[in-house]
Amino acid sequence: MRIRKARMGDVERMHDLINLHAKAGRMLARSLLELYENLRDFYVAAEDGRLLGSAALHLSWENLAEIKSVAVAESRQGQSIGRRLVEHCVQEAVELGVGRLFVLTYVTGFFEKLGFRRVERAELPHRVWSECVRCPEFPDCGEVAMIRDLPAKRRGGRRRAPRGRRRG
Ligand SMILES: CC(C)(COP(=O)(O)OP(=O)(O)OC[C@H]1O[C@@H](n2cnc3c(N)ncnc32)[C@H](O)[C@@H]1OP(=O)(O)O)[C@@H](O)C(=O)NCCC(=O)NCCS
Repeated sequence: MRIRKARMGDVERMHDLINLHAKAGRMLARSLLELYENLRDFYVAAEDGRLLGSAALHLSWENLAEIKSVAVAESRQGQSIGRRLVEHCVQEAVELGVGRLFVLTYVTGFFEKLGFRRVERAELPHRVWSECVRCPEFPDCGEVAMIRDLPAKRRGGRRRAPRGRRRG
């Protein structure tokens, strides 16, 4: 099993996986259009041509990004696939210089294990709730806002002196 960036050929299976969980009320549904439009946000877990999981990193605001659409196939849950998907998103966020991640979720225990902590919804900028307005559960969905602060990206290693040009 490996985690990689999502590709066009993954979209239909991402759609099936996410919307299976969405039908069970565990997460927000995603249309094919949303998945295609935001494909560059997504990582997938794949094994022998099978899609086992997905997660997305979506830039929201200055210094802020959202973790979205974390889903693992039921038959493969509890095998650290969700953790690995989220950690890929975290790594990319650090690379981009994002200082804070947030997630809106029902599975607080999972995200607590990954270093997120609960916050009042009001702590997030209003803009991040724009998607919620489209949700059938709005405004009483019961999703919990959680954040994880990220370390600043370390600047690149020491510079090497150009080869073959020694001084004096
Ligand atoms: C939530 C979900 C993504 C977790 O994925 P997973 O691959 O099963 O989780 P992992 O094996 O990576 O678990 C990592 C840690 O979180 C814990 N954990 C996983 N699911 C949990 C849950 N529902 N509640 C509390 N803790 C949970 C695991 O025990 C593990 O802890 P450990 O490191 O102490 O062993 C997966 O169960 C899923 O797809 N659920 C349905 C969709 C969903 O709710 N998505 C979240 C949308 S925001």
